[in-house]
Amino acid sequence: MKLVLASRNPKKIGELRTLLAETLPEITVLSLDDVGLTGEIEETGETFEENALIKARAAATSGYIGVGDDSGLTVDALGGEPGVYSARYAQIKTGVGAHDDGANNRVLLSLLENVPIERRGASFVSTIACVFPNGKFFTVRGEVKGTILTEYHGSGGFGYDPLFYYEPYGKTLAEVTPEEKNAVSHRGKAIRAFARRLKAELGKEPETK
Ligand code: IMP
Repeated sequence: MKLVLASRNPKKIGELRTLLAETLPEITVLSLDDVGLTGEIEETGETFEENALIKARAAATSGYIGVGDDSGLTVDALGGEPGVYSARYAQIKTGVGAHDDGANNRVLLSLLENVPIERRGASFVSTIACVFPNGKFFTVRGEVKGTILTEYHGSGGFGYDPLFYYEPYGKTLAEVTPEEKNAVSHRGKAIRAFARRLKAELGKEPETK
């Protein structure tokens, strides 16, 4: 049985392949390129779920199970921003700094400049959508709660990790090992929930190719 992940990122494809190999060894994970889907998918949704579904539906045009994901940071004091604009927050706020983690972090810090630590709560959110060839779909979501610091700590991870303090570890997510991050992260939780749900759904109706 085959599944197409709406991504061309070898890291994301490898991550899903490794996890599903444990839970659903009969599934082959393919990329968009593997099935000849070459166009860009426009993320026009206003929520993580909408964007994940847009991507999953595009992947499902292959005829196989389509899977899409979307993730980002939501900051309480900013009304949930950067949200679906996490990857290009600086560009949206300032007009420059497309897909630049450093610029995104600087914008985040400046918007939170006078916000005290007790009001700097935030969450990383990861959503995965799965669309079956018959059009049926489900979405799962993983979240991790933290606090946006006023200074950078650590050099691991990516994106907003050096500013995202995770209390139970007493560190930012840029200061922990990939295994430690994966054990508690939004993405780790979402992928594990996805594997469980897909297994349950496939047990119900084995109608996919
Ligand atoms: P994507 O949907 O996984 O590509 O994530 C979109 C954006 O959200 C990234 O470019 C980052 O800015 C932010 N983001 C998502 N997950 C993480 C994370 O684990 N650490 C730091 N930033 C993240």
